[in-house]
Parts: sequence; structure tokens; C-alpha cells
Amino acid sequence: MSKRDILSVADLTPDEVVQLVDKAAKSKKGPWPQALAGKNIALLFEKPSLRTRLSFELAVHQLGGYAIYMSPDEVGLGKRESVPDVAHVLSRYVQGIVSRTFLHHTLEKLAEYASIPVINALSDYEHPCQALADLTTIYERKGKFKGLNLAFIGDGNNVANSLLLACSMVGINFLIASPQEYSLKDKILMVANKYAEKSDSHIMLLEEPAMAAKDADIVYTDVWTSMGQEEEYEQRCIAFHDYQINEKLLSYAKKDAIVMHPLPAHHGDEVEVGIIDKYRSVIFDQAENRLHFQRTLLAELYK
Ligand code: CP
Ligand code: NVA
Repeated sequence: MSKRDILSVADLTPDEVVQLVDKAAKSKKGPWPQALAGKNIALLFEKPSLRTRLSFELAVHQLGGYAIYMSPDEVGLGKRESVPDVAHVLSRYVQGIVSRTFLHHTLEKLAEYASIPVINALSDYEHPCQALADLTTIYERKGKFKGLNLAFIGDGNNVANSLLLACSMVGINFLIASPQEYSLKDKILMVANKYAEKSDSHIMLLEEPAMAAKDADIVYTDVWTSMGQEEEYEQRCIAFHDYQINEKLLSYAKKDAIVMHPLPAHHGDEVEVGIIDKYRSVIFDQAENRLHFQRTLLAELYK
């Protein structure tokens, strides 16, 4: 099997993204192909997780494989042992690595030295499996991609980066409202702009949340303080104070707009208390679709 790493949404082509999303939406009930029969996948995590760990473990199991989870304190990536050494050792034991790291560079290094596929389970730069599973949820709810408006309110972080790429690939207009210092960076915008040009969609960077939310089909947010940024919590609460998804902001969106959040949520910060309950069916579909998307992705990578 040839090695293929999925560190970014951009490691897939727009056609592959559309096909995977379609397959994922149709694959919710088994039987599933036993693509991982006799294969072992290491889950190497530097940060905590509920959804990503559980959905990957289940996906591996459903494809007939065996998942081995290694918790944040166990391996000491780059501390107890160098990243290249860990990559070489894992390549002798298992057939794939799903890894959540602080630095995206750590993932790139793992992928460089491992002879087996490496999948990004969240880094400080991207969270591709989240964004691609979210496309599955959007497709189920809206029945199309082209011409939809997605308003991202808040931090131009890992989730926003992957969502930007995913939306630009499939033709969803991406309007993001963030405080200037937390806006999307040029590097990711350059990649996304190329996809947006081809899919004939728009990317807009705004500072005013109401402008982004106007006529939105999807209103999306993520935590203001991501894992590893805990010391910045107070400063971020001040910067993002006006970037909460609440009833007032949602009044600018289309009447049938959906609210999305990757979870975990900080109720009362980025989302008004009660919003998650009101939009629970979509938000928990997002969590469930992580499983269906990742199982589909693994089945394709190992077929
Ligand atoms: N959305 C998400 O990745 O959740 P976890 O951090 O719980 O895996
Ligand atoms: N931006 C968040 C996403 C969690 C799924 C974080 O990195 O903590």
C-alpha cells in the first residue's frame, strides 16, 4: 500500500472531498468493508479528546482493525523521545498513525519519518477530520453546497482554517468575523483562494459579526481559547466579547439557518447559554458524523 498522509484538507482533492462526504453520508449502517482486518492503528495524542479519540477507535474497530491509544503523558513526543525515533518505531508496529499534536510541525515531522500514513487528529493549524465531517452534516441538512453562506464567528484558528479550505473546495461562501489580531492568516488564505476561484465561491474577512451572519445558511463558531492557550483565557474573553453567537446575532441569518460547533463548547462565552440546546440536533449530528466520515476516510486509505 502506498503511504498517504492526511495532515490538511488540502491533502485531498475537491473531487475526493465530495466523494468521501457522499460515501460517509450513505455509510451510516454496516456492514462496512473490513479494510483494516489484521491492521493496527496508533492513536498518539498530546492533548485531551472525547470525540476524536472515540470516533477513531470505533471507526478502526468497525473496519476490523485494532486501535491502540497513547495518552498525552505517555510518549513524550519530542521530549522523552525524538519525533523521528517515535515515527520509526511506530512504523515497525502499526500500519497507521492518527495524531493530535500541539504544533502542526510535529505532525509534519511524524509524517516525514514514518513509513505509514499519518492522519491529523487536530494540530494548532488544522482539524481536517472535523471540517470534512462537518461538510457531511451540512450536506445532510441543506442538500447542496454551492451558493450556501457559512458565517464563522470568532477565532481564525485550526477549525476555521480547515473549514475555510473545505468550504472553498465545494463552493460554500465563507464569511468570517474575527477581531483583527485573531483573523485568518495569509498562508491559508492563499491556498483557499485558489480553491474558491475554481468553485466560484467567495471568502470574506470581516470584523463585524452581524455582517458575516447576514443571510447566513450556517452560523459556525468554536471556542475562543483553544487547547494549549489556557493562559490567554482572560485576554481572549475581552477580545472576543462581541463575537458571541446569540439570538440577536442569529436574527441576521436566514430563518432556516443552522448553528454549528465542533465541541467542546464554553457555554456563555462563544455561545449564549441555551443555544446549544436549541440547535442540539445539528451539533450532535456533527459529533456523530465524525465517526462516519473517519470510517469512510480510513476505508478509502486502506482499500
Ligand atoms: N471536536 C473535537 O475534536 O472534539 P475532541 O477534542 O473531544 O476530540
Ligand atoms: N479550536 C479547538 C478545537 C477543539 C476541537 C482547540 O484546538 O482546542
